[in-house]
Amino acid sequence: MTEVERRAALDAIGAEVAVCTRCRLHQTRTTAVPGQGTAATEVMFVGEGPGFNEDRAGLPFVGQAGSLLNELLESIGWSRSEVFITNVVKCRPPENRDPEPDEIAACAPFLTRQLEALDPALVVTLGRFSMARFNPGARIGQVHGTFRAADANSGAGGALTYAMYHPAAALHQTSLKDTLFKDMEGVPSALMDARRLRAARASEAARPAIAQSSAALTPEADFDPTNHSGLF
Ligand code: URA
Repeated sequence: MTEVERRAALDAIGAEVAVCTRCRLHQTRTTAVPGQGTAATEVMFVGEGPGFNEDRAGLPFVGQAGSLLNELLESIGWSRSEVFITNVVKCRPPENRDPEPDEIAACAPFLTRQLEALDPALVVTLGRFSMARFNPGARIGQVHGTFRAADANSGAGGALTYAMYHPAAALHQTSLKDTLFKDMEGVPSALMDARRLRAARASEAARPAIAQSSAALTPEADFDPTNHSGLF
């Protein structure tokens, strides 16, 4: 897909999200929040769901948690305009409660389609609901600040995921703020690993069939997503 096609696909998904009635959250939302960002990025940030301010603005991460996310991005020399930011659920759960499993399931096709349209090399998960979507069974206390391959059923099969605590968690538990900044430092090197994995897969796909029969030459043999030595 070209960048123009990606943008068109993301905008089409956004238009569907805006009028979606697939789950009960549409009854209490002010505005749906499809996501925001450039179609020319390799990195998607995925949070949990809109809060009060996002529900009013129709944009993700514009409240206090959003200010912290902006600071986190700035700490590595990045800005929101260089990435795509979205959520697991696109409408605010009342009183900012956790999203219910059926609400997450109803909204899942939108995130899957956004992933297909953007085809990010790296998905940064913000919080446990987002992490669970890409790495079911992982525990955030154990995996924050590390990357791994996305679950094949997540819609981001070719991507690496990088787990972070949710920025809002640091608003309640200030000790997590340092952890968030430290974990953010690992994002650029996770992106470099994601690029290396992509390049290895692309060159593997371009190899003549006879060479592909050698298991020892698979890109995964050269790239171990569980090996974080030297990175963190
Ligand atoms: N928290 C989220 O998970 N997403 C937002 O967009 C805002 C706050």
